[in-house]
Amino acid sequence: MAAHRKILVTSALPYANGSIHLGHLVEYIQTDIWVRFQKMRGHECHYVCADDTHGTPVMLRAEQEGITPEALIERVHREHLGDFTDFHIAFDNYYSTNSEENRELSQDIYRKLKAAGLIDIRTIEQLYDPQKQMFLPDRFIKGCCPKCKAADQYGDSCEVCGATYAPTDLIDPYSAISGATPILKESEHHFFKLGECESFLKQWLLENQQPPLQAEATNKISEWFESGLKDWDISRDAPYFGFEIPDAPGKYFYVWLDAPIGYMASFKNLCALKGLDFDSYWREGSDAEIYHFIGKDILYFHALFWPATLKFSGHRTPTKINVHGFLTVNGQKMSKSRGTFIMARTYLNHLNPEYLRYYFAAKLSDRIEDIDLNVEDFAARVNSNLVGKYINIASRSAGFIKNRFDGQLCATLDDAGATLLATIQHKQPQIAELYENRQFSEAMREIMALADVANEYVDETKPWVLAKEPGREHELQQVCTTLINAFRLLTLYLKPVLPQLSSQIEAFLHIAPLQWGDATTLLLDQQINAYQHLMTRIEQKQIDALLAESVTTLKPQPTSSAPSKTPPKEQATKEVKMDQINYDDFAKVDLRIARIVKADHVEGADKLLQLTLDIGEEKTRNVFAGIKSAYSPEQLEGKLTVIVANLAPRQMRFGLSEGMVLAAGPGGEELWILEPHAGAQPGMKVK
Ligand code: 2FM
Ligand code: ZN
Repeated sequence: MAAHRKILVTSALPYANGSIHLGHLVEYIQTDIWVRFQKMRGHECHYVCADDTHGTPVMLRAEQEGITPEALIERVHREHLGDFTDFHIAFDNYYSTNSEENRELSQDIYRKLKAAGLIDIRTIEQLYDPQKQMFLPDRFIKGCCPKCKAADQYGDSCEVCGATYAPTDLIDPYSAISGATPILKESEHHFFKLGECESFLKQWLLENQQPPLQAEATNKISEWFESGLKDWDISRDAPYFGFEIPDAPGKYFYVWLDAPIGYMASFKNLCALKGLDFDSYWREGSDAEIYHFIGKDILYFHALFWPATLKFSGHRTPTKINVHGFLTVNGQKMSKSRGTFIMARTYLNHLNPEYLRYYFAAKLSDRIEDIDLNVEDFAARVNSNLVGKYINIASRSAGFIKNRFDGQLCATLDDAGATLLATIQHKQPQIAELYENRQFSEAMREIMALADVANEYVDETKPWVLAKEPGREHELQQVCTTLINAFRLLTLYLKPVLPQLSSQIEAFLHIAPLQWGDATTLLLDQQINAYQHLMTRIEQKQIDALLAESVTTLKPQPTSSAPSKTPPKEQATKEVKMDQINYDDFAKVDLRIARIVKADHVEGADKLLQLTLDIGEEKTRNVFAGIKSAYSPEQLEGKLTVIVANLAPRQMRFGLSEGMVLAAGPGGEELWILEPHAGAQPGMKVK
């Protein structure tokens, strides 16, 4: 590999209709660490990203908010960039796919693909919402699963049985936008003939001397080759928020066509700002390296469509596509009701971003496996490794240097000190290799093992004892100089992960920003500044507050930069003014008729009754309801009511509550449960 490398790096472009959450941050933190490492090594490395602004969801979201798509994407851009900046994600350019550069590049690439005979135009039939007067993307059509008959499934796959199908296979389909029954309508679509790119893609992916994918991803791709590559529908009909296709009025590029081109567009914009040569990165045969960091869910787009698009429009292909897994929290999919669907901003309201950067680094590898954020393990690791081991080295030595030696480090070291520092320095190539290969968890392990060695040195040399013994001043100064140097080297190794802390430490040590090559030098016979406290431990109450605030973000995703922290007020009876929801939002709530089979008092609970409910399932449900002030158990038994059946079960002190019964009224005695008209049966869906 070249001594001086030219590297362009991207992370996936987040959609402009939602907020950044911790799941997103796995990728941005992973990429940012890698980029910072390359920059520290002195390579020319550019990190670009952008908001992914086109498509139906953005268009509808703007409409719902009563603003233009441009106004929405501008607001979200500010919000996203604010979140990224506060997590120290240092893009060289954070742009938008709704840019002139992207329009030109997309149209140019399309024209080249067309000239290469790779665009086919043919008429297809699609579901159309006659009320809203638009063709419906699969995700905006719902109905009964053709396989298991589960209600309210999306147009492409069933969340209950996992079946995949065409939206036209749904039983009783309806538009998730208007609720209308869709009709079939013909329209001309533009297709990219992916099938004709198969031999190139096979050679590029499977026979490449330097495979662009991890082995696990290559295996997945082989499965896709086996089932055959289908032509890709790259056009959408108006109304659509996107770029119009050249010479095809009323036809727009599908968002996934112009999104990856957005990587190029963001870089093109950066080139104009910095005077860089765009073509030297993207032309065929370029010696620059291009790396895309992506999640496993968008592999198909990046490993098949994207390289084929590049190749047949006369561009070079990516050097590598680095794929990562998803984030789970406490071993489970992130969940709003459990408070584990944590927004970036909510996290920042409670915790230092560098805790999370370190924790993710300690979990990330070059594999595609999911990583888990276990909140207890998170606090324990940060507290014991970062604060207890690493920061401890400075806090045990810096005070002595400042107070006893006027901030002056020794000019020489004793043998034990020199040996310790040599041990740390010798690890530098290995740690570099681990960073280069994205084996960050291994790198963190090695660095913490070195911190252990430094702490053993503290325990053996006991600077606090030396400080009390007259005549041992020189020894004390040497020991503390060694420790400050150990701390400096470890800071250098951790700098890609902890950039903010590192810059505070550089100020404390009175040194220039650390570069990777600085590990071969030591800090001797120099002045350092006074030590200021660098990092505090995570406290349980911070974690509790974070999870509690995340439960309250159950309302539609906030997209303003400062989500409101005020708890929702008791709804006034006269003027009901809430955010509007569409049918799709409403359909998420599974309301069912329930028969109250049994009602009991709950020992030790003033407000609760325990209800046994028949909701037409094989087993009854157990629900704790806060209605004791208004009902006695006898008044309820045998009655029908309404339950939210798909509310996540909640573990209470008295047992598991498996749903929620609905009641109206301000509380106390004025509380009335809902009761359906005669004829309704347990298990019937309320819609
Ligand atoms: O899956 C997503 O969130 C997409 N917005 C990612 C686009 S990445 C690139 F191709 F633009
Ligand atoms: Zn199904």
